[in-house]
Amino acid sequence: MAADDHEFGGQHTDIKLEIVEKYLQRYSAALHTWCDAVWYIDAFAGTGSRTVRVKAKEGDLFEEPAPEYVEQRRGSAKIALDIDPPFDRLVFMDAKPKHIAALKALKASYPGRDIDVVRGDANDLIQKEIKWDGWKKTRAVMFLDPYGMEVEWDTLRLIADTKAIDVWYLFSLSGLYRQAARDMSKIDATKERALTRMLGTDAWKSELYSPIPPAIDLLGSLEREDVRQRAADVAGLERYVRDRLAQIFPKVLDPWPLPPKERPQRFSLFCAISNPSPKAIRLAEDFGRSIMRSR
Ligand SMILES: C[S@@+](CC[C@H](N)C(=O)[O-])C[C@H]1O[C@@H](n2cnc3c(N)ncnc32)[C@H](O)[C@@H]1O
Repeated sequence: MAADDHEFGGQHTDIKLEIVEKYLQRYSAALHTWCDAVWYIDAFAGTGSRTVRVKAKEGDLFEEPAPEYVEQRRGSAKIALDIDPPFDRLVFMDAKPKHIAALKALKASYPGRDIDVVRGDANDLIQKEIKWDGWKKTRAVMFLDPYGMEVEWDTLRLIADTKAIDVWYLFSLSGLYRQAARDMSKIDATKERALTRMLGTDAWKSELYSPIPPAIDLLGSLEREDVRQRAADVAGLERYVRDRLAQIFPKVLDPWPLPPKERPQRFSLFCAISNPSPKAIRLAEDFGRSIMRSR
């Protein structure tokens, strides 16, 4: 493996990138018919490529055995650069210096394109920079593809406030169900803060957890203190996140479960629309349906 390789995700990563690419394709084609400034913003951009280790295969009656090999596939930044008609401007953010260097090299291989590569924490950058008058005449797709639970609710709220950005958000359900333990007493102060930062409210404590009445033994003494337990299963947690997003975005498409079939589900790929106009919502719904049909 080379020093600048970026190995992440699993088989579902190909599916995630395929879905986002299809949306970008449809979005760019449709929006360029009437809007002069159509942007792509990748807030957790990576390097522009993805290192994939393809497992060795044992041979059988029909096929020769194949050894393990490593290949480079396109990451989200490169996929967005290849969309035609091209985005008028692309903004790539990442916190890691090595990834920023790779993104700058990617930019250099697309001379003449309007590309900004910005190093920093995506939440800080978005929260500081996103308020802007120009959103009245500019439309964008933003991709939030963190490793885990890095996206803060305040970031999402400010994106929704632009009324101009469609956001694709890979939500880590496994991060949520690991932090939000079944037994509430197992959630320490750090986990509690992380959950509140991600969900934008501490109401999750009462909305996701219910008290189990104290148990009394035969002699009438208290066997178990009052405990609170999470009732929501994985599907319930996904519904909860979706409902939260729907409180700030006018439209949230049905999330794509990732991996699609293997259980437990680890991620939900959300697409949330910040433009409240019925036309923008209809368009996003049409894109979503056509992506669903094409899979
Ligand atoms: C899953 S990778 C993104 C992969 C990318 N979408 C692709 O398809 O190639 C997550 C990226 O987020 C970056 N990252 C992690 N925390 C960050 C933060 N707080 N702000 C900005 N970037 C961050 C990591 O350095 C990493 O490159």
